Amino acid sequence: MWWWCLVVLVLVGPSPSAAVVGGDPAAPPEPDAAVVFTQRHGRSARIEGIKNDALGYYSFFGIRYAEPPLGLRRFQRPVRRLLLGEQNATVPCSVCPQPDPHFPMRIMGHEDCLCLNVFSPKMPGEERGSPVLVFIHGGNYRTGSASPYGGKHITQEDTILVVPQYRLGSLGFISNGQKEASGNAGLFDMHVAINWVKDYIEFFGGDPTRITIMGQGSGGSAASVMALSSEGRSNHGVVALSGTALSPGTVRSEPDKHARQLAKHTGCPETPVERLVLCLRKMSVDKIVQADSEIAATLIDTKKFLEEITGRTGAGVRVEGEYDNRGLPTLVAEPPAETLKKKKQKVPLLTGVTSAETVRAVFGKYASGLANLMINLKNFIKKDIIGGLNNIVEEVDGLLPVKKVDLKNILPLADYEKYYERLSEAANSNILEGLTAIARDTGDALFNFPAYKSVQEWSSGAPAFLYSFEFVGNLTKGSHFLPGVSLAEETDNSNSLYQPKESGPSHGDELAYIFEPLDESGKSVEPEASSTDTRVRKSFVGLITKFAHGVDGAKNNVSKLFNLFNLQPFSLENNAFIKITDEIKLDKNFRFCQMGFWGNMVDRIAGSLCSNEIKELLQLKFIPKVDLGDVTQLKPITGLLQNPKKPKSDPVPGVQNLLNPLGF
Ligand SMILES: *[C@@H]1O[C@H](CO)[C@@H](O)[C@H](O)[C@H]1NC(C)=O
Ligand SMILES: *[C@@H]1O[C@H](CO)[C@@H](O)[C@H](O)[C@H]1NC(C)=O
Ligand SMILES: *[C@@H]1O[C@H](CO)[C@@H](O)[C@H](O)[C@H]1NC(C)=O
Repeated sequence: MWWWCLVVLVLVGPSPSAAVVGGDPAAPPEPDAAVVFTQRHGRSARIEGIKNDALGYYSFFGIRYAEPPLGLRRFQRPVRRLLLGEQNATVPCSVCPQPDPHFPMRIMGHEDCLCLNVFSPKMPGEERGSPVLVFIHGGNYRTGSASPYGGKHITQEDTILVVPQYRLGSLGFISNGQKEASGNAGLFDMHVAINWVKDYIEFFGGDPTRITIMGQGSGGSAASVMALSSEGRSNHGVVALSGTALSPGTVRSEPDKHARQLAKHTGCPETPVERLVLCLRKMSVDKIVQADSEIAATLIDTKKFLEEITGRTGAGVRVEGEYDNRGLPTLVAEPPAETLKKKKQKVPLLTGVTSAETVRAVFGKYASGLANLMINLKNFIKKDIIGGLNNIVEEVDGLLPVKKVDLKNILPLADYEKYYERLSEAANSNILEGLTAIARDTGDALFNFPAYKSVQEWSSGAPAFLYSFEFVGNLTKGSHFLPGVSLAEETDNSNSLYQPKESGPSHGDELAYIFEPLDESGKSVEPEASSTDTRVRKSFVGLITKFAHGVDGAKNNVSKLFNLFNLQPFSLENNAFIKITDEIKLDKNFRFCQMGFWGNMVDRIAGSLCSNEIKELLQLKFIPKVDLGDVTQLKPITGLLQNPKKPKSDPVPGVQNLLNPLGF
C-alpha cells in the first residue's frame, strides 16, 4: 500500500524551509525558456514545461492543484495544493480511475489524478495577460480526462487553455446527502482548479480578470451550474458545448439511489452511512469502478438507450441545498432552473449543439437493437421513444412551462388522437425512417431543446449566444476525446443495413475543430487538415476565443460581446443562432417548430409558420384552426404520455383512451 506513505507525507505537509526555491531572488529565466516562477501565499515554485518553437507556445502538463484524494481523503472535498519547489511539468499525470474503453473489464487510471495542463501563448511581459479558457472535459461524470485536449489552436489566438481533471463516477460523485458523502466532490475539484487558475495564471502570462469556463457534454453542464452558483462564480464567461444548465443529465434527481445500488454491488452496508463510507474507503478503486459499471449494465433495451444518451447513468452532480450539515458553502444550492429564473446579472454565455448529436449512437451501437424493438413492439416510437423522452424532459425542473393546459383545449379530439397515431405510423413504416425519427427526436428533446431553453432563460440576465455546429469534415471524430461515451462511439457500420440518409456532426465531433488531439503522453495525433477543415477550425476557435477576449471582469463590461463577429445575442424575439457550416453566419428561429413541439408552445404548434412542419411530422392534411384566446402555453402535447404515477386530471367520461392515448 504505497499510497499510505503518500497520505502520511501529505498530512505532515511540507516544512516551511522548503518554501523558497534557491534563495531570493531566483535568477530570471531566459526569456524563451518554458520555465515559470510563481510566488503566492508565501511559497515559491519553479515549473518547467515544454516550448513549441515552431508556433511559439508553451505547454505544462500534470500540475497538481489539489492534494491527492487518497485514504481518508477519498469521497471528501478536495484540499487545494499550493505550488511549491521545483516541478517537472513535461509529462501528463494519470487519468482518474474509470473503465478502460478498449477492455471493458479493465480499470485504468489512478486516484492521484487531480492535476491540470496549461497551454499558454506567451510568458508574462509588459502587455496585458491573455484571457483564459478553463476546459471541463465531458464523459457523463464517469469517463474522460484532460489528456486528449491540446491547446495548439487556442494559443494561436492569444488565449490560454487550462484543462483540469476531476474525480469521476462514485469516487467523485457518490452522495447520500450526509456529511460523510455529501456529494459533488468532483464539482468541488473543478472549483478548486478554477481558484488555482485565479491564483497562478498571471505567472503563465494569463489575465485573472478574464477567465471563461468552458465545457463539453456533462462538462458544459457543470460549467454552467458553477457559473450560476454564488460560491462557484469565479469566472467571467461560460462556453457550454452540447451540455447546459437545463440538460436532463445535469443534476441527479435521486442521488442516494446510486449510493444504495453501490452498497448492494460492493457488499457494503447500506446504513448507517458512516459504515458504508468506511467500507468503501477500504475497498480497492477497481472494485468501486467495476461496481459503477455493473450498475449501469443493469438497465436494458430502451431504458438503457435513453438513459445512456441522456448521460445520467450512475453518480453525478446533485442539488446540495443552501447549507450542508457542516455549514460549509455549497456549489449547487438550488436546482439550476430556479437560479436561472431569478433575473440576477449573470456572466455572458455561449452555448450550442452539434446538428446530429445522437446520430452515431442511433445508427451505430444501438441500430440493430432499436430496429428489433421497432419490429417487435407495437407503437414503439410513439410509446417508448417519444413517451420516454417526454418523461425525461418533464422531470427536468424548469424545462417546461409551469402553466399547463390540456391539449384537448387546442386540438379537436379526433385530430388529437391522430396526432399520435400518425407520428408512429410514419416512423414504423420503414426501419430507416424510424431510426431517422429516433435520431431527430432524441437530438431535439435531449440537446436542442435544453440548449434553446437555457439560452432563453440566460438571455434575460446577460448576453447569451446560441450556436449550431453543422459542419462534417475529416478531422478526428468525437470518440478520440470521449472514449467510452456511447454518443461518440464509432462502430464499423460500413456494411450496416442502416445508413443515415443525410446527417450532420455527432456528439463531440466539434472538439477537433477546437483542440489539437493528443495521445496519453501529450504527443499530437492530429491528421493533416484540408484547407476547408483548417478554415472551419480557424473560425470556430475564433468564435470561442473572441468570446473569451470580450468578457471583461475588470471593467465589468460585456458590451464588447455585442460586436462578436457582428453576431446578435439570442433574444426571445429573434431566436437568433450562429450557424457554423463551412462559414459562420447568423440565422434566426432555431428549429422553430421542433422547439415549439417539445416546449409545448401552442402559438407555434397551431400557428401558420409551423403548419407545414407539423403536417409533415404528423402526416395530417391540415392543422385545425384554433382560437388561442389567452392560452399561451399548454401542457406538453407529449405530456399526455406522462409517467402514469403522476396524478392526472379526471378523465372525461367515455374518452379515457384519449386522455391516455398510449395506453399506459
Ligand atoms: C521530467 O520528467 C521526464 C519524465 O520523467 C524526464 O524525461 C525529464 O528529463 C524530466 N525533466 C527534468 C527537467 O527533470
Ligand atoms: C474529406 O476527404 C475526402 C476524401 O479525401 C475529400 O474528398 C473531402 O473534400 C474532404 N473534406 C474536407 C472538408 O476536407
Ligand atoms: C463598456 O465599453 C463600451 C465600449 O468599449 C463603452 O462605450 C461603455 O461606456 C463601457 N461601459 C461601462 C459601464 O464601462
